[in-house]
Amino acid sequence: MRTQVVVIGGGPSGLLLSQLLHVHGIDSIVLERKTKDYVLGRIRAGVLEQGFVNLMEKAGVADRLHAEGFEHDGTLIAFDDDCFRIDFNAQTGTPVVIYGQTEVTRDLYEAREAAGGTLIFNTEDVTIHDADTDHPFVTYSVDGREQRIDADFVAGCDGFHGVSRQAIPLSVRREYEKVYPFGWLGILSETPPVHDELIYSSSRRGFALCSMRNENLSRYYIQCSLSDSPDDWTDSAFWAELKRRIPKTFADHLVTGPSIEKSIAPLRSFVTEPMQWGRLFLCGDAAHIVPPTGAKGLNTASSDVYYLHNALRDYYDHGSRDGIDAYSQNALARIWKAERFSWWFSSLMHRFPDQSEFDLKIQRAEIDFLRTNTAAQKAMAENYVGLPY
Ligand code: FAD
Ligand code: DHB
Repeated sequence: MRTQVVVIGGGPSGLLLSQLLHVHGIDSIVLERKTKDYVLGRIRAGVLEQGFVNLMEKAGVADRLHAEGFEHDGTLIAFDDDCFRIDFNAQTGTPVVIYGQTEVTRDLYEAREAAGGTLIFNTEDVTIHDADTDHPFVTYSVDGREQRIDADFVAGCDGFHGVSRQAIPLSVRREYEKVYPFGWLGILSETPPVHDELIYSSSRRGFALCSMRNENLSRYYIQCSLSDSPDDWTDSAFWAELKRRIPKTFADHLVTGPSIEKSIAPLRSFVTEPMQWGRLFLCGDAAHIVPPTGAKGLNTASSDVYYLHNALRDYYDHGSRDGIDAYSQNALARIWKAERFSWWFSSLMHRFPDQSEFDLKIQRAEIDFLRTNTAAQKAMAENYVGLPY
């Protein structure tokens, strides 16, 4: 087989890239290790920056997002029993949109299928060859039969555990990592959200986040120990702990119910440099991970896709290599700022096992500064709604 761009990974990065390339008349084939149902069953991010929404529009897949997504003009920051609001609208004039990653992925699959795009599932042993030449190719197996796709370019959109990053030789690749000493236990429940905006809560017992998907679907997270497993937490233990970590006025109104999903995610900051090697380009979690506190995971994936699809379009339309050659530099400039924000907001809101009384006082002073200082609120809001591409 031959195509212009082989996309490895059928998560949000790979699908969005493939759909945007299609809109610009560029052919691609998407290789996904799992089944479509498996990918759609993963409950992950829920907050979209305007930049992401713009890309979904450009890809022609934003109708349901506009109909069913919820614009949020602000968020609450709670600490112990106090609470204040960061007003995104007043500070930046830009809202964020609540629309689950599952729905984003579903819309993109539908669009790729409607356009007759080639998506190959259950691929095994995906291997990238000759990425440092002008004739890269990818081999893989389905049902034990090996296949080969020749291409002009390879996009590695295969997440943190994918193969694409490993294809860049260690002599070229440098990785930067910070692992946090806790995880997030998240549940999804068919209950009305406790508030109409998100609540990021720092408490003596650890961090908690109240989020949502719609009027009757809530997403809640609590900071937990890395040694915990979801089975250690009954639903009632989860609700009791969440109530202890959010201000009483919300705890008193929290509607609880059975969880329909429960999982633990570790927290990590990670960046690999460079994000390209020859004709291989990395996008999304394949190249970088943020701790989820700033809701930047999915949104950083989309800025990579923005830079890469523009670079490929310039190459095919005008024969220009400028965007391609500058891809890693352009993508990383924005990524490091999102890394900084996610690290800062995570450090501000969580309890760390080795925190001294001094550290706690500093953390509290910084939250108080954010509560009272409009310049700090503006900086927070600008980062949260997303820095420009
Ligand atoms: P992925 O979504 O990881 O997609 C990569 C795809 O590649 C997957 O479908 C995978 O099956 C496929 N793949 C992997 N290896 C291969 C291979 N060798 N061959 C072919 N296909 C392959 N972000 C937030 O903003 N908020 C959150 O609450 C949040 N929660 C998260 C919870 C978890 C458990 C995880 C892992 C991430 C979470 N994120 C969250 C981050 C966010 O979901 C990711 O940033 C986003 O999914 C990145 O999209 P992606 O397409 O780059 O990678
Ligand atoms: C959600 C996840 C996040 O990491 C975040 O910062 C906000 C919301 C969510 O899943 O809804």
